[in-house]
Amino acid sequence: MPQAKLCSASSVTLRMQTRELIALVLALTIAVVYGEPRFLLHTRRIQDNPQQIEPEVEALVRSSFYAADPVVLSFPRWGGNISSPEIPAVVSAQLQRMDSNVISLDLTKANNETEIIESVANLVNLLHSNLDVPLDRIQLVGFAEGAHLAGGVAAQVQRELGHQLPQITALDPTSGEDLEHKLSQTDAQFVEVVHTNAGGVGTWKQLGHVDYYPNGGQTQPGCSSDSCSHERSFQLLAEMWSPENDFVSALCGSVESLGAASCRWSTHKMGQSEGSGIYFLETTQSSPFARGAYYISFL
Ligand SMILES: *[C@@H]1O[C@H](CO)[C@@H](O)[C@H](O)[C@H]1NC(C)=O
Ligand SMILES: *[C@@H]1O[C@H](CO)[C@@H](O)[C@H](O)[C@H]1NC(C)=O
Repeated sequence: MPQAKLCSASSVTLRMQTRELIALVLALTIAVVYGEPRFLLHTRRIQDNPQQIEPEVEALVRSSFYAADPVVLSFPRWGGNISSPEIPAVVSAQLQRMDSNVISLDLTKANNETEIIESVANLVNLLHSNLDVPLDRIQLVGFAEGAHLAGGVAAQVQRELGHQLPQITALDPTSGEDLEHKLSQTDAQFVEVVHTNAGGVGTWKQLGHVDYYPNGGQTQPGCSSDSCSHERSFQLLAEMWSPENDFVSALCGSVESLGAASCRWSTHKMGQSEGSGIYFLETTQSSPFARGAYYISFL
């Protein structure tokens, strides 16, 4: 009889181990399927060697994060990673402009919209509540689907903290059809959108306070593919954020009437953090992209 007892005891142990093993496998599967975004910090001092940061107070305090500098959170395309060209474009445009903390998302393993938004909103919350970063110093930039993710994070922060983030810059956003949250004006105090491949990878739809349609918004000079025109949106950013910004734009009545002759030229420049409406402008096919005022007086 003692032998039988021993046997049943060990089968209980075995069953428990099996259950634990299943739980472990399940947890691992979930972690792989619903991976968290990774956060990479770039500052002027570590521009070429971004630091992976964990969204925890202690890890942040020990990182190169400098709470007195403004923060730019950069959202790549869906599944985008550190090698996606929009990431270095945003980093260099911002670090040329000022000392700051640019935090880029790596979405290689993150494919659940709700979880991405929650995870980034938690980071913003942490920066604000534990590191005393004013919400007004946190700006979001998103390319393609990343524009809608940025909107989702800003909306979530607003629900949790009761305060709008100051600005979202959306670079050739997609239609957002397959996403829960679509970028809108209500997501931040100021939402600016640059459409460079509308009707291709990007959307024609007005999503911000200001929507710019360089060269008509659909195809860009020197580009013969959708992806080239789509990616032009983040190549324009460095000039938009430079003190020499010369993207003089014209205010248009509607998306149907975009054109040098049908819109009203003004002193407004693409990338200026103010204004509202639909703007047209022309660019060159390579850097420097701006055509400035000379071109307009020539018209
Ligand atoms: C990283 O992103 C680029 C372009 O966005 C893509 O071509 C590449 O396959 C991605 N790499 C990984 C490891 O996901
Ligand atoms: C994404 O994650 C949320 C929360 O964890 C979950 O409820 C939802 O079912 C997931 N969505 C998909 C498409 O798997």
